[in-house]
Amino acid sequence: MKELEFIRTALFVPGNRPDRVDKAVDTAADVVIIDLEDAVPYSQKKETRPVVREKILDYQERPVLVRINALDTGFFQEDLDAVVVEGLSCVMVPKVEAAAQILEINRGLLEVEAKKGMRPGSVSIIPLIESALAVENVFQIVSQRTDPERLFTVAFGAADFALDMGFEITKTGEELFYPRARIAVACRAAGVKPPLDTPFMIDLKDPEALEADIKRACRLGFQGKLCIHPNQIDICNRLFSPTTEEIEYAQKVVQAFDEAEAGGSAAIQLDGKFVDYPVVERCRRILKMAKRIF
Ligand code: GLV
Ligand code: MG
Repeated sequence: MKELEFIRTALFVPGNRPDRVDKAVDTAADVVIIDLEDAVPYSQKKETRPVVREKILDYQERPVLVRINALDTGFFQEDLDAVVVEGLSCVMVPKVEAAAQILEINRGLLEVEAKKGMRPGSVSIIPLIESALAVENVFQIVSQRTDPERLFTVAFGAADFALDMGFEITKTGEELFYPRARIAVACRAAGVKPPLDTPFMIDLKDPEALEADIKRACRLGFQGKLCIHPNQIDICNRLFSPTTEEIEYAQKVVQAFDEAEAGGSAAIQLDGKFVDYPVVERCRRILKMAKRIF
């Protein structure tokens, strides 16, 4: 199984549509998330579980995640029982609102991993932050350590957040600035990987609006975005990766700075820009990211 390192794109696909799972796996999405939650009607949850399980077993070489149902739905443990199999890298858990729930999820996973003879901790978790309470508690949620450690990062769910807040999501997304910033800062402060942004759902036929939405998340420090349509993948992968110009510039900065530092200077000017330790460190991180991607 491929280890999860970073996620620029995570494509959702309904668990009750196995044909679409096959198509999703063939896309350039970094990971595929098979949905057992909101894309699957209540009446079909039960019959969908074995279908999802088969797909995970089919695609061992591809990071395939499952979005299970929330802790208090009555579906949670049965979902875990069905989909935790060798090859499942991660479960996305919706509607997490408190740190204690992270411990509860860990307990559920430990039980199932033990039952199936799997290594404890082999399944990581991505909680969805999608209510006002969850946003308020996000730092505690991402700071909650488990034994074994499981938290990959968190994802933002704007649709449920907007429902909770009683507002409409707009194309320009000003109303989402606060929860996004709060989630990204919380992840950084807790030392977990950068979060995943909400899917863009407002207009699936407006690539410019999608691009602007992705850029908003990039600028706030998200590592990637949930996608709800294959058309969203390429642009998302591109915008969450360093560009050729950024890579070349970063190389130039690092080289010029290393030379200056060897000569006893830790602050230089390059192409009219001031370069010091934080600037060069940012460039080193861009180069490291580029190495992992390309
Ligand atoms: C995703 O689950 C969302 O609520 O946006
Ligand atoms: Mg949701």
